Amino acid sequence: MNILVTGASKGIGNAIAKELEKSGNLYVTGRNEEALRECICKDYCVCDLANDIEILAEFIEKNKIDILINNAGEYIYGALETMSTNDIQRIYQTNLISPAYLISKAIPAMKNNKWGRIINIGSISGVMGEAYASLYSSSKAGLIGLTKALALELAEYNITVNTINPGWVETELGMNSIDESEFSKDEIIECIPQKRFVKPEEVAKLCKYLISEDAKGITGQSINLCAGLSVGI
Ligand SMILES: NC(=O)c1ccc[n+]([C@@H]2O[C@H](COP(=O)([O-])OP(=O)(O)OC[C@H]3O[C@@H](n4cnc5c(N)ncnc54)[C@H](OP(=O)(O)O)[C@@H]3O)[C@@H](O)[C@H]2O)c1
Repeated sequence: MNILVTGASKGIGNAIAKELEKSGNLYVTGRNEEALRECICKDYCVCDLANDIEILAEFIEKNKIDILINNAGEYIYGALETMSTNDIQRIYQTNLISPAYLISKAIPAMKNNKWGRIINIGSISGVMGEAYASLYSSSKAGLIGLTKALALELAEYNITVNTINPGWVETELGMNSIDESEFSKDEIIECIPQKRFVKPEEVAKLCKYLISEDAKGITGQSINLCAGLSVGI
């Protein structure tokens, strides 16, 4: 089984890579080569999803990926009218366009094997909307639409496609987004029904389940892993 995790150099992606280390031939990608070198994996590919995506597309074709986990993502905070064309392009490219392109490169080998698993890491912001994060929210909402359509397209090939939508997770991205917001860490915890942040390992364990045979019936789903944040809306 050939597995690729994007954004594996830190945070949630790193936890997923550690969880799946023994599930097959693990391939990882990110921009930080030093951190990728420390991952226990078969090989890695240094790639900036906002710029030089072709190198990773070739890596996927060469390694015939059976399980693709599109985890890498970038957050940007601010009113939409303050965003530059470059910001808009970078966020959509990293969070939505590149994941769709990488999936398109993985599909032929999966179809050939009549088996595959695709997991996109979305965000609760793509489900609920988040003020001053319109580019991030809309890019993550796009992943949900992509997931549903592809699940239908690929169902007959035994390929499942799902999105996991984390709530607040204690990572660099999660904590930076709190620093940029108008709320303190304590105020945010107060709004979360379980009064806690989600751990990267919880997302990793859900990935492990979704790639298993036990989860073959789960496809096209958008699963909120958010300590209750999205409940009651
Ligand atoms: N933390 C949260 O609260 C939270 C909540 C909901 C959803 N999420 C989603 O979960 C995913 C992982 O987030 P995280 O919290 O683990 O963030 P993180 O700690 O900042 O890690 C982000 C990862 O994505 C990679 N990455 C970012 N931009 C990239 C680019 N342009 N090209 C290639 N790699 C890139 C980073 O690689 P390098 O470091 O090597 O550059 C890093 O490995 C993201 O999609 C995020 O939107 C996070």
